[in-house]
Amino acid sequence: MADLRILTVVGARPQFVKAAPISRAIAARNGIREILVHTGQHFDPSMSQIFFDELGLEPPRLDLGIHGGGHGEMTGKMLAALERVVIEERPDLVLVPGDTNSSLAGALAAAKLDIPIAHLEAGLRSFNRRMPEEINRVLTDRLSTLLLCPTETAVVNLRREGIIDGVHNIGDVMYDAACFARAASQRSQILDRLGLVERSYALATVHRAESTENKAALAEIVEFLRRQARDRIIVFPVHPRTRKRISEWRLDLGDIMACEPLGYLDMHRLLRSAVAVFTDSGGVQKEAYFHKVPCVTLRSETEWVETIKAGWNRLWKGPDYAPRREICAFGDGHAAERAVELISNFMKCQPRAGSAPSF
Ligand code: UD1
Repeated sequence: MADLRILTVVGARPQFVKAAPISRAIAARNGIREILVHTGQHFDPSMSQIFFDELGLEPPRLDLGIHGGGHGEMTGKMLAALERVVIEERPDLVLVPGDTNSSLAGALAAAKLDIPIAHLEAGLRSFNRRMPEEINRVLTDRLSTLLLCPTETAVVNLRREGIIDGVHNIGDVMYDAACFARAASQRSQILDRLGLVERSYALATVHRAESTENKAALAEIVEFLRRQARDRIIVFPVHPRTRKRISEWRLDLGDIMACEPLGYLDMHRLLRSAVAVFTDSGGVQKEAYFHKVPCVTLRSETEWVETIKAGWNRLWKGPDYAPRREICAFGDGHAAERAVELISNFMKCQPRAGSAPSF
């Protein structure tokens, strides 16, 4: 019998990480073959090729070279190109990891050609429809036949939306990837390269549209990180989108130690010896926990509520968040004078001690 064929669609950095353990598991089985397609969404070598090299991913069969433009334009171009690929390859199933524009385009292309879809990392919800990823997740889950959830929370989220069939809690493939890379990341030279010693620094990453597409929001994050940098070194591998905005808006990073985006192994080496993590990334929040490093998530909600409940993660702008402002409750620095004034006035109205009582 001919091998079953899975067509996996990847395009952005976190998808390479999620696809790698699956590709290895497929390679270890007989009777099943993978066709890996890269949409081209992430194209800088530091955002793409290095992950293939370090995670042992085979080069993609096809790279569609689609990136940039608005979300609709990018997703539309991917859909058109992926439709041609799916017609050509006629896979038995299309696998889409994560929640990027590439995930949604892959799911749509397959659904319209009546090919079953497996969504890897199904059921995640931030309940914030302003996030492009939330739209991608909700729609991809709707279209999928097999919903491969990383946690029980994700299963419950799907059940609340009436999605029950084909739902499986398989555990988190990002944890698989972290376990795979544990030994290899020991060989990373990143601490020496950046002149760092273990546990003397915190690690920050910022890339989400909600953090980077609004000057005030990005300025607030930079200011927060600059304040953190007064107490300890803040290592900040800068995503290309964030770098563009920082330079366009002339934001001053002050003492923050900015560097190029890091590969998977260097990132994990840095994570392992950090004292804290500040991030708006879903993946990095969890990876901080994998290395037992406390995290502040630079958002007002998270999909990974388990990390909050277990005390490893805290929302920068959670329900009890208030922007930093002066507290008037502690007076004006003249409390003592006021106290003495009151005491003195009080005493003036009292009979003097030692003076004879007047009858
Ligand atoms: C995408 C995903 C996000 C994921 C993130 C990881 C969507 C909606 N978002 O966001 O879920 O967490 O990837 O990084 O799919 N760019 C470069 N070089 C690159 C990659 C991007 O210059 O290698 C530029 C793009 O041209 C664009 C900007 O960075 O101007 C943003 O890239 P894009 O792929 O649109 O979104 P991400 O922010 O990376």
